Amino acid sequence: MDKFVVNGGRRLCGEVTVSGAKNAAVAILPAVLLADSPCIIENVPDISDVNAILYALRELGAEVTQLERTTFRIDPTGVNSFVVSKEMAQGMRASSYFLGALLGRLRRAKVAPPGGCDIGLRPIDQHIKGFEALGAKVTIDSGMVVAKAEKLGGCSVYLDVVSVGATVNIMIAAARARGMTVIENAAREPHIVDLANFLNSMGADIMGAGTSVIKIRGVERLSGTSYSIIPDQIEAGTYMVAAAATQGDVVINNVIPKHLESNAAKLREAGAKIEEGDEYVRVTMDRRPGKCNVKTMPHPGFPTDMQPQFATLLAIANGTSIVTEGVWDSRFRYAEQLTFMGADIQVDGKSAIITGVERLKGAPVKANDLRAGAAMIIAGLVAEGETEITDIEYIDRGYEQVVEKLTAVGADIKRVSDDEYGYSLKAN
Ligand code: EPU
Repeated sequence: MDKFVVNGGRRLCGEVTVSGAKNAAVAILPAVLLADSPCIIENVPDISDVNAILYALRELGAEVTQLERTTFRIDPTGVNSFVVSKEMAQGMRASSYFLGALLGRLRRAKVAPPGGCDIGLRPIDQHIKGFEALGAKVTIDSGMVVAKAEKLGGCSVYLDVVSVGATVNIMIAAARARGMTVIENAAREPHIVDLANFLNSMGADIMGAGTSVIKIRGVERLSGTSYSIIPDQIEAGTYMVAAAATQGDVVINNVIPKHLESNAAKLREAGAKIEEGDEYVRVTMDRRPGKCNVKTMPHPGFPTDMQPQFATLLAIANGTSIVTEGVWDSRFRYAEQLTFMGADIQVDGKSAIITGVERLKGAPVKANDLRAGAAMIIAGLVAEGETEITDIEYIDRGYEQVVEKLTAVGADIKRVSDDEYGYSLKAN
């Protein structure tokens, strides 16, 4: 098992380039199944969650060819299997998107339930509500979710909770249904808009993505297209926070600044300077961060996927801050790890009270999940001494070349693998 070893105390300075968005890629890649000819998808991040989707696409019978490092040609014409097995779904939350995609294409899907990060209950009742409204029958058979439909017909679905996953799945299945589907109380995240743009570029007729009412007029056929995935707002946000926490000066390239507004607003409140260009943001910080309160909410609120990273910045802030989680039931498991490094965090239900300390001290910690892992990296970067982070397979799910990118801006971070003779350094 690999670990990260971080020697903290260095300011991050320089430039970093953000990769394609994980949560857009894991929706767009399964949606390729709806096309009746090959698609070229660019800006695909090289992360394990995406590789798991590409593997599942191949297993289903799609021809997947890597044209360049981040460009793939996917020919779904040969797909006739509707089963995504437990082995194929293992570890990926987005396996459920194969339900919408296979239902849309073959009117039939049998998919192992989603795995992924343990950040609280991860139900799919709203996805199922949408499929049923479209005319599918959904059952559970030997632990697999089975969806079948003679035909899919347009419908009206009101989501009881704002769910990214349910919005994605219903959009994908409805793109090939007969008639108009309306999703009310839909998620508004940038990756929802990206998926709609992708589907529209295949010939779908989707309006309103990015608002809470999305209208999908089903079409007979969708054809292959070329499409480039948007930059990852959470990866960008993570580097923004890392820059501020280390009192650094970092230009983060290949971003859509509008997607980073809530994060930038909170960083400004904590004392950072943020300069925005067309496709970059520059974060500079010349002092210890100030306290501020944060509450996570669906987009355009402050993203839950930035909560652990931001809390880490507040752990070294001047004063006491309150962080409230408004999306997931349990997303504070990382707090205990931060206390091992000297942080003063008290978790009370959905809130954490964080009294900033002058400095954290390096310690052995683990990545409880993907974003918790990113938080441990930031903690390691600001801490005095050495921090060893285990369970980094979570981090590999969502951060492409994190060691290389951080090293380029001056961090001292290494990937180390355990072997029978002790530690050996692995090529980055
Ligand atoms: N929910 C339900 N029923 C459902 C679906 C969701 O009650 O059928 C609840 C969840 O329990 C949660 C809330 O609704 O409390 C929001 O869940 P949502 O469906 O929006 O989350 P998701 O689609 O499973 C995506 C991202 C997560 C991100 C959330 C919220 C992907 C692959 N994952 O998850 O990203 O935290 O939206 O923005 O898009 C991450 O990248 O680290 C990550 C966890």
